[in-house]
Amino acid sequence: MSLGLGRYLSLSTIRQQVVGINQKVPIYNGQRVRYINLDNAASTPTLKPVLDHVLAFLPWYSAVHRGSGYKSLVSTVTYDAARTRIAQFFGADPDYHVVIFGKNTTEAINTLAARLQFEPGDMVLTTLMEHHSNDLPWRRVAKVIRADVHEDGALDRDDLERKLSLHHRRIRLVALSGASNVTGWVNDIHSIAALAHHYNIPVMVDGAQLAAHRPINLLSPNDPRHIDFLAISGHKLYAPFGTGVLIGPRHVFERGSPEFVGGGTVSLVTPLGVEWAMPPAKDEAGSPNVIGVIALASALAILDDLGLDNIALHEQSLTDYALMQLGQIAKLKLYGSKKTQDMNRLGVISFELEGYDHALVAAILAFYGGIGVRSGCFCAQPYIQRLLGLDPITVARLRHRHSSGEIKYLPGLVRISLSMYNTPGELNHLAKTLQEICAHSPAYWLQHLRWDDDLQCYVLRDQRLVLPKQLLFQRRGSGLLPGIL
Ligand SMILES: Cc1ncc(COP(=O)(O)O)c(C=O)c1O
Repeated sequence: MSLGLGRYLSLSTIRQQVVGINQKVPIYNGQRVRYINLDNAASTPTLKPVLDHVLAFLPWYSAVHRGSGYKSLVSTVTYDAARTRIAQFFGADPDYHVVIFGKNTTEAINTLAARLQFEPGDMVLTTLMEHHSNDLPWRRVAKVIRADVHEDGALDRDDLERKLSLHHRRIRLVALSGASNVTGWVNDIHSIAALAHHYNIPVMVDGAQLAAHRPINLLSPNDPRHIDFLAISGHKLYAPFGTGVLIGPRHVFERGSPEFVGGGTVSLVTPLGVEWAMPPAKDEAGSPNVIGVIALASALAILDDLGLDNIALHEQSLTDYALMQLGQIAKLKLYGSKKTQDMNRLGVISFELEGYDHALVAAILAFYGGIGVRSGCFCAQPYIQRLLGLDPITVARLRHRHSSGEIKYLPGLVRISLSMYNTPGELNHLAKTLQEICAHSPAYWLQHLRWDDDLQCYVLRDQRLVLPKQLLFQRRGSGLLPGIL
């Protein structure tokens, strides 16, 4: 299969750069197999050049912005250069935008919610496909209204337009995901921004899912299609070192006081008063995650080299292949769009196997196929409820049964999520393992697997292959586990 990742790069070259690509994991029969990671929407692995960069920097690591020693100066200059690099990657204008570092997208959105100075009666227009991280923060500060979705999970654009036109006087922000972490649906963020700007309403894009798969450009603030605010996570961009980013107009953050206060946020403090520092320092309380920021800048430089357009093309053909393979499994019901035409979907594919609990399917894939997927509601419960066609009464009943401890977990789906280094061979193995699951009843599989309350998932009944906490501590260097604890 052609990768399309630039003239000189093959899929195997890319794979050689992925840390842990050959990691083996134990399966049901005690054998160890190469782990297949189909859970990239949760977190991506890091890349060797990112790791090399971090290791090369560590001897210079020191406190930034506060030390006068040579290492501090090197750290400060590198940290500031990384901020500039990250701004460039997203087309931010250094005179207009500010790049604020935090730990992840969730924190970035919470920061924005706390800083927008909402008034009673203000509304935030979001969508029904949002991750909880782009829903719950807004509930705290405003009335949240949601544009609906179609049956296949695509955004109902007409409903969004209707709600904008009906409530535009009260809507203070349109907050929507660049792409869904359940169906992979890609929103047309620039045309939605143009719609919102028509009413002078700013737009925030939750770029957590989109950023590793499509280029995101904020565009000039004079362009009606520009994005006002962007939130992303480093760990979904091959930089799992604990960094998130919020980008927005500097003037917004010059106003008001920061959400978190303390060291680094001030220019002057007296026993009775405080003058806040200028953004971004004002909104980055405490010592920053220098390594995380450098890792993210390094990862983005690699994505730039590879070209996100090339990555998108490769992932599109991989997604088509996955949809075709999964579509051939009789008991499997796919959710979301079945096509990748117009590049309107990422390789995030959710499905269910008729008659099998989602958590059971995920566990069999792990313990029999060595495949990492995710199951459940993926922190997007309202969207999943909608996709599953659960009416409000059923949802209320479920809520009651869940809070009274009657059910272990909510109805949900199994999700695979692809990345630039996944291969058709891995998808063949997935399809084969799913066929094997279907060849036996759930009761058969439950003879081999049991629910584990601590881990909140199914594990093998064979104790040797379970990972209870005491095993993690006792079996140091046993070969079964990494021996890092
Ligand atoms: C669309 C979307 N938004 C927000 C988040 C939250 O990201 P984080 O956990 O890095 O804060 C996720 C994580 O899966 C996501 O997929």
